Amino acid sequence: MTSFEALYEYKPHIFTIPTLGQGITKVRDFTNDISMLQSVLKEALTQAQARMKFYILKIRTSFCVSLIVQKEGAGYCTKVPRNVNMAKLQNGYLFPEISMREFQHLEKYPNAKLISLGIGDTTEPLPDNITLRMANYAHGLSTAEGYSGYGAEQGNKALRKAIAETLYRHVPVKDTEVFVSDGAQCDITRVMLLLGSNLTIAVQDPSFPAYIDSSVIIGQAGDFGHEVGKYYNIEYMKCGPENNFFPDLTSTSKTDIIFFCSPNNPTGHAATRNQLEHLVEFARDNGSIIIFDSAYAAYITDDSPRSIFEIPGAREVAIEISSFSKFAGFTGVRLGWTVVPDELLFSNGFPVIKDFNRIMCTCFNGASNIAQVGGLASLSPEGFQAVHSLVDYYKENARILINTFNSVGVKVYGGTNAPYVWAHFPGRKSWDVFAEILEKTHITTVPGSGFGPGGEEYLRISAFGHRESILEASKRLKNLFTKAE
Ligand SMILES: Cc1ncc(COP(=O)(O)O)c(C=O)c1O
Repeated sequence: MTSFEALYEYKPHIFTIPTLGQGITKVRDFTNDISMLQSVLKEALTQAQARMKFYILKIRTSFCVSLIVQKEGAGYCTKVPRNVNMAKLQNGYLFPEISMREFQHLEKYPNAKLISLGIGDTTEPLPDNITLRMANYAHGLSTAEGYSGYGAEQGNKALRKAIAETLYRHVPVKDTEVFVSDGAQCDITRVMLLLGSNLTIAVQDPSFPAYIDSSVIIGQAGDFGHEVGKYYNIEYMKCGPENNFFPDLTSTSKTDIIFFCSPNNPTGHAATRNQLEHLVEFARDNGSIIIFDSAYAAYITDDSPRSIFEIPGAREVAIEISSFSKFAGFTGVRLGWTVVPDELLFSNGFPVIKDFNRIMCTCFNGASNIAQVGGLASLSPEGFQAVHSLVDYYKENARILINTFNSVGVKVYGGTNAPYVWAHFPGRKSWDVFAEILEKTHITTVPGSGFGPGGEEYLRISAFGHRESILEASKRLKNLFTKAE
């Protein structure tokens, strides 16, 4: 299975390939013909084992499938060498591997009712007070009065103001420091572009894979050490229950950049105020910049900070990246933002915000105006209430999952300030537990080791899902673990 190289689009069950070589040998449409797809896939696997590389372009497990089988390296080649950094990316990227396992499972058990608690995508419909505003705006584009073309590269003024005044109500963030984008994932890469390749970075271990992958692509990461499961030039900050999910900063090497995600994906831990104060102090002592990812801030229930800018001194050492995806269910609509404070300066005194503005103007031409209208609607009093009901719905799912694991004696973390539950299986390989749960319950999860070596022995269970699926999953899991006792 590892012969397959596929890049997951961060959308459930859809693969795209990273590089298209030449020599497409077959293009077939398997829409509504799952049995034919299965037999072709089997053949492709056999061929792959015979050292021919095949790529799967698109697989939807809804069985609406198109497949391109392609032989690598055949036919005409240009003289352009492959980007060496791209070649350093690890092929076995987590999410395609999981979808492939799901697919194999369905091949083995065609009648299984698979429940996906793996990939963290939202599932519930958007509130109609938000979609109606988007629909009206979209329809207005077909009128002379309603038409608008390019907007400001930094985002619609009203939306920037609403983000500053609503989401940073008690925090010192100005609307001019808010850059609206098409999502946090794209901003992670744009921030890397801003910072360049000659920097050192630190990441939480385990962490959301985009930090490391974008660091590899930009050329900061160095080579991958297979024996340790780490890139040599990246500082991995172990975060587990033994240190209350906060790194031991006394033994953390100084780096230029520190990626920090809170609430964390995958552990679900929201850093406490005290922990973030230490982080800011550490960054200030070392002259580092923190890239703070607050994509799950809306899920915080206790008094943990929702923004790094709640911490005194953070404005001189931090950038914050965030998103409407998990807060407003905009995973498909695409909207996010980044805050770059005026006070954040490079070593020569040049304001970081000026360079980030330049990056946004050069690499991005402004977020979709329809998405921005939706974002603004979600920050209106009715919209805000409606999206918070959705967040509460997912949090209730997380509560059900926590109770499920507690009732069968599996120790879990997270889930109260985040839509992820982090379950511990001491002494076991996370891929083995993943495989056992899939085999015996038809439920997919995510093996913790996919988020870094610090995730070994853990599984991430996503609370995004319809309530009936969560309840059914709970029943199956209880059954499995009760039998195992
Ligand atoms: C921690 C974290 N940051 C960023 C993202 C990407 O967010 P977006 O959908 O805005 O690109 C995700 C998506 O799951 C995430 O988990």
